Amino acid sequence: MPFSSFELLGRDCTIVVFGRDGQLGRALQVFLSDLKVPVIYLGRSDCDLSNPSSIVEVLNRYQPQVIINAAAYTAVDKAENPKESELAFAINARAPALMARHIVNMPHGILLHYSTEYVFAGNKKTPYIETDVPGPVNQLSVYGQSKLAGEQDIEATFRQAQNSFKDAFHNQLSKYFILRTSWAYGDGDNFIKIMLRLATERDQLKVVADQVGVPTSAQWLAEVGVQMASSRVESGIYHVVPDGETSRHGLAVFAIETAAACGERLEIKSENVHAIPAIDYPLPAKRPYNSRLNNDKLKKALSEMAFTGQYPHWREQVEQYVKEYVKQSLKS
Ligand SMILES: NC(=O)c1ccc[n+]([C@@H]2O[C@H](COP(=O)([O-])OP(=O)(O)OC[C@H]3O[C@@H](n4cnc5c(N)ncnc54)[C@H](OP(=O)(O)O)[C@@H]3O)[C@@H](O)[C@H]2O)c1
Repeated sequence: MPFSSFELLGRDCTIVVFGRDGQLGRALQVFLSDLKVPVIYLGRSDCDLSNPSSIVEVLNRYQPQVIINAAAYTAVDKAENPKESELAFAINARAPALMARHIVNMPHGILLHYSTEYVFAGNKKTPYIETDVPGPVNQLSVYGQSKLAGEQDIEATFRQAQNSFKDAFHNQLSKYFILRTSWAYGDGDNFIKIMLRLATERDQLKVVADQVGVPTSAQWLAEVGVQMASSRVESGIYHVVPDGETSRHGLAVFAIETAAACGERLEIKSENVHAIPAIDYPLPAKRPYNSRLNNDKLKKALSEMAFTGQYPHWREQVEQYVKEYVKQSLKS
């Protein structure tokens, strides 16, 4: 089996994290600091991912054996502006392709990359599995298209490297993990925080009820990602979401009721959070009606990693997050 744990990479192993200042980047800093692993965290000012020469310069300078890409162009609606879409593709597709090209040439290299359920149009009736064909591209948002292009570039780079250097030992050992997730929230702007803020300002809210997905904690995403990258599980795409599912409306009501139960002073009562169809809340970018990702492949991988903990439900994670949010809010 390939030796891929961070410990086995050797003393000189360098880990580079892109996207230091995002929700996931911050969560990675918390988790990796507990592990006492030396890591180089890069933000936009250290490396502009829209600029290929900036990426190549950083990769040449640090020669990382492990790259964790938590950066992305995530302004889903803004990306629909034709002037922005090129930027979305540069950051979400061309930048990860350069990272992959670097990693396939590193002995025991590992690329941990995050992606999204927006690579699917969202018309399927059941949760998406990893082998479902993404797209169709003409039904995806620009953001979804750019993230899909990033996934495809990473996979193509690893495939080509394996074909060209079949006999080269180190190429067989380089690995990639593309972790698709949905409705992420952490230390940064996100849907839950927006709902909690609006709940302190308004006594009525309308929230979309016919888009269904799985809220996912950035902290958990960081932990699962690092554990997978440190394990012997196979390269590939994995859907990383907790158990359960809800609508945007269901999530808003749950977050508001949890905050109220924790003593947060709110203007709204949960019965005044009104369910509306997405068609009544038009936005520039298309969003999948079905954002549900099937997590069976992840659970199998975790069991191979001898993971013995309880697999989380989205409600537990959101409850913990809202409790912490209220604690901080009551302090200030
Ligand atoms: N949030 C979600 O609901 C969600 C859902 C599914 C999948 N995902 C995926 O999960 C991953 C993490 O998302 P997130 O929620 O942590 O996103 P986020 O909070 O928006 O963070 C994205 C990070 O990327 C950085 N970035 C953007 N453009 C850059 C550039 N040109 N050069 C360097 N850095 C740049 C941003 O830098 P600045 O801080 O300087 O702006 C930011 O720190 C992404 O791959 C995303 O596609 C997210």
